[in-house]
Amino acid sequence: MRKIVIAIDGYSSCGKSTTAKAVAAELGYAYIDTGAMYRAVTLYLLENSISFEDLPRIEQALHEMHITFKRNRKTGRNELCLDGTIREDEIRQMRISNLVSEVSGIPAVRHAMVRQQQRMARKRGVVMDGRDIGTTVFPDAEVKVFMTADVLTRALRRQEELAVKGEQVPVEDIVENLRKRDHLDSTRTESPLRRAPDAVLLDTTHMMIDEQVDFVLERVSASLFSLAAAGGEHRNTH
Ligand code: DC
Repeated sequence: MRKIVIAIDGYSSCGKSTTAKAVAAELGYAYIDTGAMYRAVTLYLLENSISFEDLPRIEQALHEMHITFKRNRKTGRNELCLDGTIREDEIRQMRISNLVSEVSGIPAVRHAMVRQQQRMARKRGVVMDGRDIGTTVFPDAEVKVFMTADVLTRALRRQEELAVKGEQVPVEDIVENLRKRDHLDSTRTESPLRRAPDAVLLDTTHMMIDEQVDFVLERVSASLFSLAAAGGEHRNTH
């Protein structure tokens, strides 16, 4: 069967990655968490004491660092590796969340990540989540979903995720972090967070994960159906 690209964009902590992972597992597609890549760049800059203003040094760092994903055989999940070491836990910490929007607004960082993301999905058969997948990375994605949810709902979900990892954070701090990131992500000059005109809106405030996954899978079926129909028509005309 033909393989397509599924782009899932939207605000932070709307359930994008949980939905994208489940959709990828269902279809046997690769899942790529592009937010993890910007988080890894942030971690690298911090660990190497590189100022976010030192653009020549950042350009050099982008050539030096190796961002890859490694499949965890036990969980079946892709884990982010920086220079060959799994750094999943560190990149999810609040100290990174508080700085990542600043780093992801740097044009050189975006260009390097977008190029790598396009290479990763050369063969299609990919579910990619982020902020600019349907607008910049894959404007030709066959399925585009833009996710949103009420900010308090998002903060409570994030608080639970952090608590599972042993980090207790007051909900007000998370709301503030989400608001700040939403603002920075949507107002940056380089590929800001925006709903692509052809992306379907998915508000997850009152939805369960299964419903979100079904919603996307229905879009995928519809897309594959119309592609097959168009392919059939195409063959008939020749
Ligand atoms: O999805 P996330 O919260 O892990 O993303 C972390 C940050 O990275 C987010 O604040 C915005 C940025 N980001 C981006 O600018 N473009 C993407 N495609 C993915 C994430």
